[in-house]
Amino acid sequence: MYWTKSAVIAAAILAFTATAPSTSIAAAQSTSTTIAQAIKDQPTGPEWWRHAVIYELYPRSFQDSNNDGVGDLKGITSRLDYLHDLGIDAIWITPMYPSPGIDYGYDISNYVAIDPLYGSMQDFDNLVAEAKKRDIRIIMDYVINHTSDKHEWFIESRSSRDNPKRNWYVWHDGKGQTATDKGQPPNNWQSWFGHSAWQWDEKTRQYYYHYFYVEQPDLNWRNPEVHKAMDGVLDFWMQRGVAGFRIDAVSRLFEDPQMRDDPYLPGHNAYGDRNIQHKYTDDLPQVHDVLKEVRKVVDKYPGNPVLVTEADEPNVQALTKMYGNADEVQLPMDFQIADVNELSAPRFRELFHQIENNSAHGQPEFFFSNHDQRRQWDRYGDGEHNDQIAKLMAVLELTARGTPQMYYGEELGMRTTDPARVEDVHDPIGKLGWPKEKGRDGERTPMQWDATPQAGFTTVQKPWLPIPPTSTKYNVETESKDPDSIYNAYKRLLSLRKTEPALRDGAQIGINNDDKDVFAFVRTTGDASIVVALNMSGKPQKIALDWKSIGVTGTKLAPLYSSPKFSTDSGDRLELPPFAALVAKIE
Ligand code: NOJ
Repeated sequence: MYWTKSAVIAAAILAFTATAPSTSIAAAQSTSTTIAQAIKDQPTGPEWWRHAVIYELYPRSFQDSNNDGVGDLKGITSRLDYLHDLGIDAIWITPMYPSPGIDYGYDISNYVAIDPLYGSMQDFDNLVAEAKKRDIRIIMDYVINHTSDKHEWFIESRSSRDNPKRNWYVWHDGKGQTATDKGQPPNNWQSWFGHSAWQWDEKTRQYYYHYFYVEQPDLNWRNPEVHKAMDGVLDFWMQRGVAGFRIDAVSRLFEDPQMRDDPYLPGHNAYGDRNIQHKYTDDLPQVHDVLKEVRKVVDKYPGNPVLVTEADEPNVQALTKMYGNADEVQLPMDFQIADVNELSAPRFRELFHQIENNSAHGQPEFFFSNHDQRRQWDRYGDGEHNDQIAKLMAVLELTARGTPQMYYGEELGMRTTDPARVEDVHDPIGKLGWPKEKGRDGERTPMQWDATPQAGFTTVQKPWLPIPPTSTKYNVETESKDPDSIYNAYKRLLSLRKTEPALRDGAQIGINNDDKDVFAFVRTTGDASIVVALNMSGKPQKIALDWKSIGVTGTKLAPLYSSPKFSTDSGDRLELPPFAALVAKIE
């Protein structure tokens, strides 16, 4: 598993501290929350990104058009009808720029070109144009913290100490360095991918800093020339018609100028290093200046460009800062919710309440899977009812107020399929940390289009990652014929988001806030109200849904989606089957 910051902190610190009691939600609500107040606190608006569903697509694995075993841009274009039919409004494509591929595209050697592995710039322009015809927007990955060591900027930077680009990266002398001895790394800062974050460079006899792989040197964001060059990257893609950017690893842009050692935490990571709190290399206040600058650059263009951040912040306060004063990011990804990692009604209730009522009144952004995390089918499944739980998670993701972000194949119930042997691993952290850390190949396997041996992804015998054996059952073709499939649950829910005003624009207010098994909430515009009830336990649950407590009138339920099907004839009194999910109008 690739540890996100919130997961690390949860594991290493929260175990030692008391968490705030969640009873505060009930108290806060019954005394002060009225529908009118919630509508005021949770603003909606006409901007497209408030109503969009974003689909993250890993280009290597979506569709191969030239049969080399690797997905490509023409492949994506050929599947736009599928995405449109599913109900997707925007796709975020992970990097497809030229790259040596050490970090599978996140080590970029040219920000303003397309890697020939994925096609040409013409293929890209064609993709944007074809997507536009289907009302689908394209969001690019903006990898801002580091480049590849093969980027010409770094090649220049490391060529001599007085090269004009020397200061585009973070260089430092070693501790105790002499004319003949490189000494020790400048301090104890650690790479996210294991071991020291400092790499000795013999030619110019200094260390350079890399938060991620050695081959990913960090840009020096204290240098105005770096700002200028990177702003130019934004202009380049905006002028080609993209709708915005997902900003990679944004909290890691700045390091402590005093170079203080990070504090150690208990225990060791999968690479054998002592756990560390990245206190002096994460979330420095200057990050927000950069976000404001990025906002200004993209706002020169029409169409309400969106900024999404990879913001694996440890708490809602840190996450809320990313909205700025509506002058930074519209959609900071909520890693706290993604990382709950258990079906816990109280935990989800608390975290949803926090983000829905964030003090910046910002739009929440939810997801449960991505290219760095084990797929949700495995993480939330109990080993027995995983398909049912996958539908429940779909309801949670697609009915909460906010912008949902899906990961390709989650609509099929794709599961994590790890390499069986270390020699099959592609992702370098999987080699370094095997068997504790198997890397991220498991969540990046090819999209499952049909039940054929190559799953409709390619025709070659050996695609870049193997086709999971479960693809014979979990694939688009097979599941579209089954009304009860995970795929059809997604389709139905995605269409409800478009047709139901309460799901589109309504505020979200929790009900039955003391229930430890059922997470229930109402989405309401005042005129129209919909209740969502999720039984997060493996036992039937009797519940009297208390929407009256928040001032919603109505006595009958008109189900819009339920899985499994069960009776709602007695209105607010329900018996929810194990892991049941209900979405119903209150009439
Ligand atoms: C976050 C990306 O999501 C991940 O895949 C990558 O390895 C790191 N950033 C480094 O770029």
